Amino acid sequence: MPVPLSPEEARQFHASDAAPAAFLDLLDAVSFRSAGAALRLGVFEELADGPLPVERLAVRTGTDPLGLRLLLDALTSFGYLIHAEGGYANSANTTRWLLRAVPDSFAPVLAFWSALLSGWWHDLEWSICSGTPAGDFYAWLEQRPEVLADFQTMLRRLADGLSAEIVELLPVPADARSLLDVGGGHASYPVAFLSAHPQLRATVVDLAGALAQGAETVAAAGLTDRCTLRAGDLFEVDFGTGHDLALLFNVVHGHQAAETLTLLRRVAAALRPGGRVALLEPLATAPEQPTAGLGTAFVRMFSLNLFHTQGGRAYGHDELVGLLREAGFTDVRQQVLGGSETDHLVIAQVRTLD
Ligand SMILES: C[S@@+](CC[C@H](N)C(=O)[O-])C[C@H]1O[C@@H](n2cnc3c(N)ncnc32)[C@H](O)[C@@H]1O
Repeated sequence: MPVPLSPEEARQFHASDAAPAAFLDLLDAVSFRSAGAALRLGVFEELADGPLPVERLAVRTGTDPLGLRLLLDALTSFGYLIHAEGGYANSANTTRWLLRAVPDSFAPVLAFWSALLSGWWHDLEWSICSGTPAGDFYAWLEQRPEVLADFQTMLRRLADGLSAEIVELLPVPADARSLLDVGGGHASYPVAFLSAHPQLRATVVDLAGALAQGAETVAAAGLTDRCTLRAGDLFEVDFGTGHDLALLFNVVHGHQAAETLTLLRRVAAALRPGGRVALLEPLATAPEQPTAGLGTAFVRMFSLNLFHTQGGRAYGHDELVGLLREAGFTDVRQQVLGGSETDHLVIAQVRTLD
């Protein structure tokens, strides 16, 4: 959590240039890293039932008492913990957001980004200099089941918040029979479509590890007989043909334009004449756009992360329209989503040959 400032410190760092704001970044970076360590060591979960002295907490978490005390003291300064009678306790914000069992828990998000920043961002300069990603992000994920589970849980939560609105915004004709979800992983979106449209069947394509969570979602919804999960590489696996609607949600931002074009062409070939594709993407804004607000900052941070880890980036609306047209789509429309400040739905129809 951002370190709390006194009024005088806030004046020096925020309201004037009297002090280097980068010093706050140093503290915030250590705050974020310390919280990731506490999460991984089980500190917040062990404190869920009330305060504990450091010695008891060290036994429960299998840690060194001195090392743990120094971590707990830092976390107390950052606002994750408080001192209470009986030892250290979770702060109100930690209790509300960082326990795994609470509704909308932020723990999977913090754990995923902590693993990502620790594992990848140490050599950010390398991708900036070379222009190529520092590794294969999805292969890295598939080798780390816990990080992959947090990643897919984070995406599934976002999907659970958006899917009702998206189903509403994407009307499915009564004679439509087939939905293709490309890179559908956790499968929450196809489950939402199948639940709303009993005549539909779905095919979800993704890597095997990602589809493991998808299989659970589909089974929990009782839709196994209407949903096929197909494991494979999106650039090689058979998408099938004749689909009425294809979802390409949060996938193209992992690729540069040439690969995105290949993917869009593969999707176009898998659709029936007149079928539609829907992309869900955070859209890049022009560099001169005002930077106030978390939304713009998040998309720019995310775009840099995509470039470094996958060789991708957030696209601008016009770029996506150009790629869709080049891939054989027409009638491109953008839908603003009420449920998200940063995600946009871009829908297009496959061009039919006259
Ligand atoms: C950011 S996630 C989006 C998941 C889901 N569509 C959503 O919007 O919540 C991207 C998905 O694409 C899959 N993916 C990325 N590259 C892939 C590839 N080359 N082959 C198969 N799946 C891939 C990942 O495993 C992951 O599940």
